[in-house]
Amino acid sequence: MKTIDEHTITDAATEQMAATPNARLRQILDSLVRHLHAFAREVDLTPEEWLEAIRFLTAVGQKCTAHRQEFILLSDTLGMSALVNALHDKRAAGRATKSSLLGPFYRQDAPVLKLGDSIISKSEGTPVVFYGRVIDSEGRGIANALVQVWEPDETGNYDLQKHDPSEMDLRGCFRTDEKGNYHFRGLCPTGYMIPMDGPVGDMIRAQKRHGYRPAHIHFVIGAPGYRELVTALYVAGDPHIDSDTVFGVDESLIIRLNQVDRASPLPDLPSIQYDFQLAAANDQMSGRVGADPSQITSKVGA
Ligand code: BEZ
Ligand code: FE
Repeated sequence: MKTIDEHTITDAATEQMAATPNARLRQILDSLVRHLHAFAREVDLTPEEWLEAIRFLTAVGQKCTAHRQEFILLSDTLGMSALVNALHDKRAAGRATKSSLLGPFYRQDAPVLKLGDSIISKSEGTPVVFYGRVIDSEGRGIANALVQVWEPDETGNYDLQKHDPSEMDLRGCFRTDEKGNYHFRGLCPTGYMIPMDGPVGDMIRAQKRHGYRPAHIHFVIGAPGYRELVTALYVAGDPHIDSDTVFGVDESLIIRLNQVDRASPLPDLPSIQYDFQLAAANDQMSGRVGADPSQITSKVGA
């Protein structure tokens, strides 16, 4: 019998898993166990510390509900979501807009609206027009692409955080016209602090991080034959643009508010213009780290 000690335990554990029939699952778990063990050896982890980690992960799970996904928040604040997005972007078949975080406030059942409609139904604040095109890797417009959008209100809260989750505000779904154009009215994006009333908030405070996201608006854009794009646009000049708590900002996703814009489809309003580029579909993989939380929890035990 082999002695199990700090050096032999890693091979002993991975050998037991070596017959996993699913090759990708085998590869992922083998690597995960090796890295976890290496981490424990590197920091000389104590039983009390590992138990504390287990308590923390238990609390993260217990904080999850149909409208709150604390594990996605943990993934986001540890930089894992941004890393997985960057790996996803590298696999794109052609030029495409960069991904950014889906975050925990996406809803897949947002109202379907007409081009030019407003997503503002309850919030106060100055409307702006968002407009541009959805184009392919060669710059050709994509007709009938589905543009899903959501943003927080002027106080930095999403509808899910404020009132009865069945009442939606500041979200909508649009279809591009025959040339790939979209436009809609919304609020100038606001920055906010991520939800800090759970174990992830405790972690952020223990690390003396500020917890803020710079002002942004979220998009999920898809069309048959193209890779779905999950991204967000960030407002230039926000004080947290260089220190986003969840690492979502890329230079290419920073936009400016134009006070005067003759090219805008609604020239009486301030405008934000952005063209989104979709790569051709080359796999069936989704670009979403996370999902509508109610869809995740409803699948549990299904
Ligand atoms: C968001 O942008 O909605 C978000 C992303 C990650 C953590 C919290 C919020
Ligand atoms: Fe957000």
